[in-house]
Amino acid sequence: DFRQTLPATALALILGAQTATAQDLRADALDFFAALPSTTPAVSDNPITDDKIALGKALFFDPRMSASGVFSCNSCHNLATGGDDNLETSIGHGWQKGPRNAPTVLNAVFNEAQFWDGRAADLAEQAKGPVQAGVEMANTPENVVATLNSMPQYQDWFKASFPEEADPVSFDNFAKAIEAYEATLLTPAPFDAWLNGDDNAMTEQQVAGLETFLDAGCVSCHNGINLGGHSYYPFGLIEKPGADVLPEGDKGRFVVTETVDDEYVFRAAPLRNIAVTAPYFHSGKVWDLRVAVEIMASSQLGAELTGEEVGDIVAFLGALTGDVPDVVYPILPAETAATPRPSG
Ligand code: HEM
Ligand code: HEM
Repeated sequence: DFRQTLPATALALILGAQTATAQDLRADALDFFAALPSTTPAVSDNPITDDKIALGKALFFDPRMSASGVFSCNSCHNLATGGDDNLETSIGHGWQKGPRNAPTVLNAVFNEAQFWDGRAADLAEQAKGPVQAGVEMANTPENVVATLNSMPQYQDWFKASFPEEADPVSFDNFAKAIEAYEATLLTPAPFDAWLNGDDNAMTEQQVAGLETFLDAGCVSCHNGINLGGHSYYPFGLIEKPGADVLPEGDKGRFVVTETVDDEYVFRAAPLRNIAVTAPYFHSGKVWDLRVAVEIMASSQLGAELTGEEVGDIVAFLGALTGDVPDVVYPILPAETAATPRPSG
């Protein structure tokens, strides 16, 4: 062991240098990333209370929010499997296959815009989408409100959650309650502990992977609390991937802005829990995280990484797998004679 043969002062210098390097890397990292907060963040125009969280949780797990009575949010955003469905693209109403891969709901509150193309501004706006989407829950706002009003327990929970309102059972409040619940779905990970100062929270390889992630330029698009989730880039900025990975029919943000420049533009995906949310990309065509990283390097950076660099980055991405909050399965209000019957 070199430590035994080195004079104490030299040893102190070397260890000091090592510490300085770790500190430099942390300082660099903190220029681009932020650790997950340890408490539920505030969301705009929607004060979060315990009542609202509990209501939102019930709604998140309630399949009666879908026309068929089969699909809840948790069907496609399964909190037991990383907040997604681990399918290429989701299966919804009438066993239809949707057009895109389901992103995780974990930490989604920190995405500046929701969906692969960012078309929903926040989680409350977002939550109204799947309920009505023909290939997801195929329901109508009127039928959701009728279903909720048919169960006295839900009426009470909405009253407690929106005490100021004369007519608390509404589709807007349905979405706000779900947003409040989703804001609690935070998963602190080893990377957060490392950012907060614990040098031992990540392995040497994960630290090396972080350095490569910074040096190679991944960080220019994947940054912030969620390492992505807030800015848009062409998928294929340098080199367009083949139609097997980037199907031609999905033009991404073009549909939102109708500007030619936005063809095949997508939101830089948030990377927390990426190791447990295969398959990858909006097409869900890539199952291996190594391959996803290689595609990113060539398509977005025009770079060819060595096998070791790819392995290091994948190790680093593993340090983004966090602790999912304990989920106690909610017991839902019992349906009544007035509850609309499942259809389709
Ligand atoms: C996207 C929540 C129901 C499939 C999302 C996102 C959130 C979310 C927050 C955006 C995540 C992000 O952009 O990073 C919910 C809630 C639901 C619900 C609260 C219940 C009200 C469903 C169901 C399915 C589904 C039932 C499957 C049948 C998807 C898919 C996307 C998505 C495919 C991506 C769509 C796109 O980008 O165009 N969901 N979801 N969701 N969800 Fe859900
Ligand atoms: C998606 C990693 C560089 C923009 C992804 C995904 C991973 C990843 C794993 C898949 C996310 C998922 O399926 O949920 C990396 C790594 C990079 C890198 C390791 C460096 C080697 C970049 C750069 C940009 C970028 C430089 C911007 C120029 C995007 C976009 C997506 C994405 C737009 C979404 C693609 C889609 O529509 O499916 N990235 N990325 N990435 N990344 Fe990167």
